[in-house]
Amino acid sequence: MKRIPEPFRIKMVEPIRMTTEADRIEALQNAGFNPFLLSSEDVYIDLLTDSGTGAMSDNQWAGIMLGDEAYAGSRNYFNLCEAVHHFFRYEHVVPAHQGRGAEQILFPALIDRMRNVRGGKDPVFISNYHFDTTAGHVELNGGKALNVLTEKALDTETAYDWKGNFDLEKLEDTIRQYGSVNIAAIITTVTCNSSGGQPVSMENMRAVYEIAVKHDIPVVIDSARYCENAWFIKQREPGYQDKSILEIIREMYTYGDMLTMSAKKDPMVNIGGLCCIREKIELFQAVQTRCVPMEGFVTYGGLAGRDMEALARGLYEGADEDFLNYRINQVAYLGERLREGGIPIQYPTGGHAVFVDAAKILPHIPGHQFPAHALCNALYIEGGIRAVEIGSLLLGRDPVTREQKPSPLELMRLTIPRRVYTNDHMDYVADALIQVCRNPDSIRGLTFTYEPPVLRHFTARFQPL
Ligand code: F0G
Repeated sequence: MKRIPEPFRIKMVEPIRMTTEADRIEALQNAGFNPFLLSSEDVYIDLLTDSGTGAMSDNQWAGIMLGDEAYAGSRNYFNLCEAVHHFFRYEHVVPAHQGRGAEQILFPALIDRMRNVRGGKDPVFISNYHFDTTAGHVELNGGKALNVLTEKALDTETAYDWKGNFDLEKLEDTIRQYGSVNIAAIITTVTCNSSGGQPVSMENMRAVYEIAVKHDIPVVIDSARYCENAWFIKQREPGYQDKSILEIIREMYTYGDMLTMSAKKDPMVNIGGLCCIREKIELFQAVQTRCVPMEGFVTYGGLAGRDMEALARGLYEGADEDFLNYRINQVAYLGERLREGGIPIQYPTGGHAVFVDAAKILPHIPGHQFPAHALCNALYIEGGIRAVEIGSLLLGRDPVTREQKPSPLELMRLTIPRRVYTNDHMDYVADALIQVCRNPDSIRGLTFTYEPPVLRHFTARFQPL
């Protein structure tokens, strides 16, 4: 496939320590066969996440020197507000330390609104797919988090342009089943991380919003990777080829009432988040009220002035079309190399990662022995590459029965940080994984030696069976 070269040059480098296979076997044993517990010094190519791992530009670093560290009313806060108004046209801006910080100050306010304004009782949030911390904040506040993703996303090898879309029929059915007054919010996640960084079409966003308006349900846009979503709309959706990324983003955000954002992804900052509200002033006030004790005063929300400046500048850089052309091409290139090597992946590739279908590669390992996690470990030993499991291990147990929840997919995510690795690094990753998959029978499943009760994947320890 055509490769799009990097639209930047490298001014500063960060050396990486090279390791031997013997080093890596020892490191993995010491980490209890859980790559989360590896020291990053023992990792050559780190594809655990694209969150906070991007490389800031010279312009962002220059902004760091212009931090106004006043407790209240920092000039960087106003620069951030200006950038938010430019892209999203949302009036009210609350900074947060990262995405989950924004979730924790917004969701209780949405639940209060559902109870006090709309007369509901049992809060329900409906999303194409809740990210795990997003579902966590819903559940911590006594709510139910339901996903109504299109079934087409579960068929990894059949191409479909919009594997992040809501199933609109399921959305309507769920609203009817739980009663519209109990739906605290609909969360449109762009792109849909859990299905593979897959985009939501403008048509689907619009239809979701129309349904929400009909039932008086607020829509939150979970905005970790909104620029990548806009790029897919421009490439794939009829009528958008001649629009700019800015115009597409502005239209996307007319199909929401508020946004939460982990700014550690598309805007390429190492820390930062946002909660912005289009107009509802009471909701903004409720969010501000929670922000002060949870995140910090309302004009910094857990960020230093310098962080807000880097974020304000990152909002512009993340939406640059030349950057996005290169960025998503790099991910697609890795996907193509793997497909050519016979490796099944979520297809087409999404914006930020290649999701490898481990259940297909390792059919001899059942879900409760974590095939995708076993594949991560094999890839680490082969090439010092750190990937992450998105499957049974992440999903966990039913809180009541303590049985392993059945996972529809067992995926290994190769998540590509922004502006960090070159296309040569992508070839290295593809070669290593193809090598691992030549001998799948040698890979064994895992069993716990330590299993934490919640969010177990981060700190669990294992032994191979
Ligand atoms: N929403 C989505 C869609 C996410 O992917 C994430 C984080 C969050 C919210 C929470 O944001 O981490 O800044 O608090 N995703 C990361 C990942 C961690 O690796 O996919 P946060």
